[in-house]
Amino acid sequence: AKLLVLHGPNLNLLGEREPEVYGRVTLAEIDADLRARTEAAGHTFESLQSNAEHELVERVQAARNDGTAVMVVNPAAFTHTSVALRDALAGVAVPFYEVHLSNPHAREPFRRHSYFSDLALGVVCGFGADSYRYALDTALARLATRPD
Ligand code: DQA
Repeated sequence: AKLLVLHGPNLNLLGEREPEVYGRVTLAEIDADLRARTEAAGHTFESLQSNAEHELVERVQAARNDGTAVMVVNPAAFTHTSVALRDALAGVAVPFYEVHLSNPHAREPFRRHSYFSDLALGVVCGFGADSYRYALDTALARLATRPD
């Protein structure tokens, strides 16, 4: 099956962006780790980072009929703003996990609301780059029991 990872705006700067909040691991390192785990489990890995809301919306829409079985999504700042990306995920009905490196609940009040959490199978936040790995491992376990 295909597993799709989506990274929202500014995550291309991981490693240099506010390292005290987001850590020193780069996006390329995160994706390499997720790819290796996904392929070791016998599945196909794809990831997209975009700073543009419309690109993320279009990628989610394409997941409707490109064989994507599950997604891991860090909407980044769009977590707190994007009804459009939320509607895309609701519309395609591909199950997804929401991920954040930081713990948005321990930060500014405007980060406490997510447009995604009530649609997600689960939310992982506050574990740095490991947040992605925990969500991915759960997604892979789900694929193993529900191989559709
Ligand atoms: C983030 C948390 C968001 O509030 C923030 O806008 C981000 C990254 C995280 O991974 O911790 O860009 O999604």
